[in-house]
Amino acid sequence: MISEKLADALRNSKRVVALTGAGVSAESGVPTFRGDSGLWKKFRPEELANFDAFIRNPQLVWEWYQYRRSLIYEIEPNPGHYALANMEKRYNEFHLITQNVDGLHHVAGSTNIIELHGNIRRNKCASCEKIYDKEISFQQKDVQKCECGGLIRPDVVWFGEVLPADALQRAFSAAENCELFFSIGTSAIVQPAAQLPFAAKEAGAYVVEINPEKTAITSYLDEHLEGPSGEILPKLLKILD
Ligand code: OAD
Repeated sequence: MISEKLADALRNSKRVVALTGAGVSAESGVPTFRGDSGLWKKFRPEELANFDAFIRNPQLVWEWYQYRRSLIYEIEPNPGHYALANMEKRYNEFHLITQNVDGLHHVAGSTNIIELHGNIRRNKCASCEKIYDKEISFQQKDVQKCECGGLIRPDVVWFGEVLPADALQRAFSAAENCELFFSIGTSAIVQPAAQLPFAAKEAGAYVVEINPEKTAITSYLDEHLEGPSGEILPKLLKILD
């Protein structure tokens, strides 16, 4: 199932990048965004995950995020997250770029993580942007205020908001400088993350997709490994033993 070309690239590359999306956490029990059981289908995110909604009804948006946090704190990384954390240790340069906000890559032990869409485990002030990392429990029912008087919100990228410039710049730089690039568990339709596999390919990297289904970008890439990332990634790691 794993081609010679990929096995060679795994063994010989020095700079490797993995871009992950919601599919990587699916086997941990986090619903993906666009699947049948997608989180967005139940909660109409366009009404909740945006700044205007927060200003209109901060308590409602806060409660929705506290609910989502309560789900996330109960689940654990799966073998895909652990395989990526292990891969990081095998390469001189390994960048993990994630669109996920669940923080499961951290829990699994990855350290060099570029978070494109923020992290639901953190909060920040909507006015002065002060980060609240640990101070606010996920059981805190009422939306809190910062010492500056601003409302405290989750530190995630909402619809209509721009991605953190520093994370985006580091992500493109990693993609353009790697030899092997994986696009894992993402439908690759949300920009600008969906550009990263192309940036890597244009710069000469071997680009591999891991997904049980084909995506909009499958036909442009070098290889598609069909199946769940929790099964495929541990197999790739074995090649490095
Ligand atoms: P999607 O829900 O769009 O895509 C999830 C992908 O994971 C699909 O292509 C599935 O086929 C695949 N998948 C499902 N189970 C899998 C498994 N076990 N192993 C591997 N792949 C599996 O999620 P994303 O592409 O992450 O942005 O969505 C990107 C962004 O859209 C999100 O970060 C979010 C949303 O708008 C923001 O919140 C800013």
